[in-house]
Amino acid sequence: MSYQHILNQIHGGAALITLNRPDALNALSDDLMDELGHALAEYEDNDEIGAIVITGSEKAFAAGADIKNMKDRSYMDVYLGNFIGRNWEKVTDCRKPVIAAVAGYALGGGCELAMMCDFIIAAETAKFGQPEIKIGIIPGAGGTQRLTRFVGKSKAMEMCLTGRMMDAEEAERSGLVSRIVPASELIDEALKTAQLIASLSKPSVFMAKTAVNKAYETTLAEGVSAERLMFQSLFATDDQKEGMTAFSEKRSAAWKNK
Ligand code: CAA
Repeated sequence: MSYQHILNQIHGGAALITLNRPDALNALSDDLMDELGHALAEYEDNDEIGAIVITGSEKAFAAGADIKNMKDRSYMDVYLGNFIGRNWEKVTDCRKPVIAAVAGYALGGGCELAMMCDFIIAAETAKFGQPEIKIGIIPGAGGTQRLTRFVGKSKAMEMCLTGRMMDAEEAERSGLVSRIVPASELIDEALKTAQLIASLSKPSVFMAKTAVNKAYETTLAEGVSAERLMFQSLFATDDQKEGMTAFSEKRSAAWKNK
């Protein structure tokens, strides 16, 4: 597939996907989301890739779904066409870790896309918001649910009801982002983090991701039980033997991913 709205690069074991619609602040059109889904599927299938970074521009990670694209759609257009559901959940379907590297605006669907990633590294310029209320709708790609789980009901309710944006510091304080870095270092930091993850044993990386996600999807008892099963199953891998032997022998582990 040739890509018009995203750029794709590979850096070591990390893939970098850059949303690239500069004239529209990376508004997430159907075409862009189709391309993003396609690129993610390619990286999922590529054994050389261990983690993926999604980023935007200095001004905007993404300013939301494309308002100009969708303004004339009818209820039946969006319902029968399964608007949002059709191609937006590809990020959450990824088994490989996906990091959002956010500078500038992450609004509406942009904030929702960032929250679908496994974690968010923010530049000091990042601004997060769910401003859909200002254009007569509500978030439609999980914003009311994921934002509330990240930052709690009070902040999520205020943001969804007023469209107020949260800056990077408030986002870090509230648990929405894992950390803030200088804007000039954002991509390097995100790639370094992705490469670090890519250098680790894939079975434990996949299971760690699955286990942390259980915390959001199940009760505590179910999550702890699922974690224990995954923890125990890792003792069936060569990489558990290698990792622990390497530690004991004071050397680096040579992972086999099995
Ligand atoms: N869709 C389509 N085009 C968009 C866009 C969007 N979401 N956001 C920005 N653009 C376009 C603007 O129309 C403008 O295009 P023109 O130059 O052709 O006029 C260009 O990008 C630059 O934008 P601005 O001139 O508005 O830039 P600014 O710096 O003055 O303002 C902004 C920046 C505050 C982010 C403002 O652009 C804005 O409010 N954008 C819309 C944000 C929004 O409402 N997002 C939610 C969309 S709905 C959604 O996402 C639903 C969902 O849950 C999936």
